[in-house]
Amino acid sequence: MHDAKYNIYIRRLISHIAQKPEYWYLAYPCEELPNETCYAVLSESLKKLDMGIPFEYVIGWSEFYKYRFQVTENVLIPREETEILVEQSINALSRSIKNNLKVLELGVGSGAIIASILLSTSKSISAIATDCSPGAILAAKNNSIRLGVNVAFKLGDWWDALNSEEDGPFDLIIANPPYVGTEKTNEKDTLSSYEPSISLYGKKPSQSGTNDAMKIISGASDWLEDGGKLLMEHGFNQRKILSDFAISNGLLILEQIDDLSGLPRVLILGK
Ligand SMILES: C[S@@+](CC[C@H](N)C(=O)[O-])C[C@H]1O[C@@H](n2cnc3c(N)ncnc32)[C@H](O)[C@@H]1O
Repeated sequence: MHDAKYNIYIRRLISHIAQKPEYWYLAYPCEELPNETCYAVLSESLKKLDMGIPFEYVIGWSEFYKYRFQVTENVLIPREETEILVEQSINALSRSIKNNLKVLELGVGSGAIIASILLSTSKSISAIATDCSPGAILAAKNNSIRLGVNVAFKLGDWWDALNSEEDGPFDLIIANPPYVGTEKTNEKDTLSSYEPSISLYGKKPSQSGTNDAMKIISGASDWLEDGGKLLMEHGFNQRKILSDFAISNGLLILEQIDDLSGLPRVLILGK
């Protein structure tokens, strides 16, 4: 039995393959696809959906914020709740009295966050983005080229990717680290086994899922400009532990933000 979401996917898939707008299939349900190749692609794509491959991987792109990003199986499919990081970054940049700002994204994945920020601000930004996955760096680079944003990409493990002589200090650091723990939580309901394990659980999965966030928080003071901010997404049950950890690392808690479902989701930390 297929659910309503599957039917929406099929409609979007048909429109995508026919290279028509999404309403096309609804407006012309009896219309044939343009050629035999389209039917072959449709049949292959339906097989992939039946195997549980996420729709975004099947069509090769995902919508995030106001933009469209190519996604490969090397990157997390960007989530709606992560748009909070983009909105809050744009607010923080617009409130800054500086005109030239240095921004860093740690764990860039598809590049959806950093590219959306750069496309939505009028400030002059020098942007660096890192990831330990070469496949993610490649995907993010391709998205940045396609969308015409200028980002310097660096491969490496969290802060180790940076060069202390050349990079930083940063006015704004953004991170959506892997934060799914191995303990059973309802966070997993929206996860796919086709998404890279390193994006969800990190290099060394842990029960609480907070290891990577803690590595980022513990190095943040060294890389933040005075008055700079670290914006971080986290698991719904990690707000207290990460806030306490940030305070013990000399950072200020500026804001704690819930997502649209009312779950604790983002911390804004200050130096
Ligand atoms: C949850 S995904 C976020 C991707 C993207 N920023 C987004 O929000 O859609 C976490 C990202 O961190 C990267 N990552 C995981 N462990 C890392 C590490 N030790 N050092 C650097 N990046 C890491 C993963 O490859 C992945 O791209």
